[in-house]
Amino acid sequence: MNRDYLDKLLQSKKYRDVCPDTVRRIWAECEARYKKPKDADKAAREALHGITGAFLTPADAAACAESLRDWAALDRPDALLAEALRRHASTRERLPLHAMDALYGRIFEITGRPGRVLDLACGVNPIYLGARGYDVTGVDISASAVGLVNGFGASCGAPVRAVCADLLCDGGIPAERFDVALMFKVLPLLERQRTSAAARVMDAVNAAFIVASFPTRTLGGRNVGMAGHYADWMATHLPDNRAVAGQFETDNELCYILKEL
Ligand SMILES: C[S@@+](CC[C@H](N)C(=O)[O-])C[C@H]1O[C@@H](n2cnc3c(N)ncnc32)[C@H](O)[C@@H]1O
Repeated sequence: MNRDYLDKLLQSKKYRDVCPDTVRRIWAECEARYKKPKDADKAAREALHGITGAFLTPADAAACAESLRDWAALDRPDALLAEALRRHASTRERLPLHAMDALYGRIFEITGRPGRVLDLACGVNPIYLGARGYDVTGVDISASAVGLVNGFGASCGAPVRAVCADLLCDGGIPAERFDVALMFKVLPLLERQRTSAAARVMDAVNAAFIVASFPTRTLGGRNVGMAGHYADWMATHLPDNRAVAGQFETDNELCYILKEL
């Protein structure tokens, strides 16, 4: 393994927020594919950019933290919670808050009110669940998102925590039992990182229900038939030990509730 290139990647301003296991994994995959370290480095940077995207910029993370501080200091107004959540590109698509409340209402009507929720590739989503009184454990490769979730849990005493880990690396998926595991808008992203990864992660999840969602609009808001594409994908990737307990579509998200058999 070429330590110089890997160390530079690990320390680079752009990727030092990413879980080090992810950077090592991507580097190892690219190094195996390219003869020249320079080509491997270029490919690794492209792959890391594709995974981390621009879900949460440093400026947005700072603004999110500020809104959460104000939220805790005041009487926890929904307006400030929404202001914090909209800083993450993925959560933003689920706002306003009454739409998020309705989404979870539909999910928990089928699963029952969960005691313990696992949120895989969570972004800042656990902050919403914690603010609504749920016990939630998040996992994400973004140290900033994980930091915001843990800061929120600590500052308001909510049972909310997150770990910075990679779902495709050993130990990335918590082994303990949960009532509901959320995999919101992440299965296609995992599949892009490694063929069959989505199925393997679903197999490894130890929860009575998995709730998987898929985006149905492009980032620009266009409807280009993504719902049909992901419905076909789900039909062929349904894990053997799960059955569809419910499915529905919101304005921009397709949701599947998969029950353990
Ligand atoms: C489209 S966002 C979805 C965030 C959240 N689930 C939601 O819907 O609000 C994808 C998230 O997956 C995370 N992610 C990507 N690859 C990952 C991996 N291999 N392990 C853990 N998290 C990952 C990203 O950091 C990002 O926060």
